[in-house]
Amino acid sequence: MTAQNQINDYWTGRAPSYAEYQLQPDRLGDDIEAWSNVWAGALPAAPLDVLDVGTGSGQVASILAGLGHRVTGIDLAPGMLEQARSSYGNVDFRLGDAVEPAFADGSLEAVTGRYVMWTLRDPDLAVKNWIRLLRPGGTIAVVDSTWFPDGLQPFYDASVWEALPLAQATDINQTAVVLSRAGLADVTVTPLTAIHALDEKYGVAPGHEVQMQYLITGRA
Ligand SMILES: C[S@@+](CC[C@H](N)C(=O)[O-])C[C@H]1O[C@@H](n2cnc3c(N)ncnc32)[C@H](O)[C@@H]1O
Repeated sequence: MTAQNQINDYWTGRAPSYAEYQLQPDRLGDDIEAWSNVWAGALPAAPLDVLDVGTGSGQVASILAGLGHRVTGIDLAPGMLEQARSSYGNVDFRLGDAVEPAFADGSLEAVTGRYVMWTLRDPDLAVKNWIRLLRPGGTIAVVDSTWFPDGLQPFYDASVWEALPLAQATDINQTAVVLSRAGLADVTVTPLTAIHALDEKYGVAPGHEVQMQYLITGRA
């Protein structure tokens, strides 16, 4: 089984609890407001044609659609797509590879991805392909953190961890440099302090610790 197939199986198995966590009623309103602010600040004004890669259970894609963008969300885990489709009707969710998305060159104005860079098998190739899909001046905006700086976690096999260049990043600039060396201009790293405050208030998913998350943007 390839590393990617193992990743897809893991996220399909995790999908119901992942979606349930994101839809917790006690923090949902605050989350939607805070993340709407993040994505409104990350992208030019709507409406844009946006691709949300590794869309998972669809929360980011739905927030982007709520901001007025035309959004397609792709993921390789069928279980995640099932959750996304059952939760949100305002996005076109499709099975698709974030590393090699099957869309026409120059057909998009923005590519987004939250918590995806760390689990890509080839982040450099992915960002190069995203740039190809963008019209001139288009935006790439990703959110991530240094989730596992201390090494392997049991949810992926060791062989999968070894196949993921950013999974054990110790500095968010290791992610930012992937955007710069792919040729994006104005690469900017912004700590998401409002999200950090919400995580401190409500806590984070089981097995995680509160960590600063970062928005990284660049322009094609
Ligand atoms: C941590 S989840 C993030 C989900 C969502 N973006 C969010 O913010 O909640 C990572 C997602 O990336 C997806 N993924 C990993 N590698 C992928 C790839 N090569 N192509 C598409 N999706 C991928 C997984 O299936 C999973 O849904």
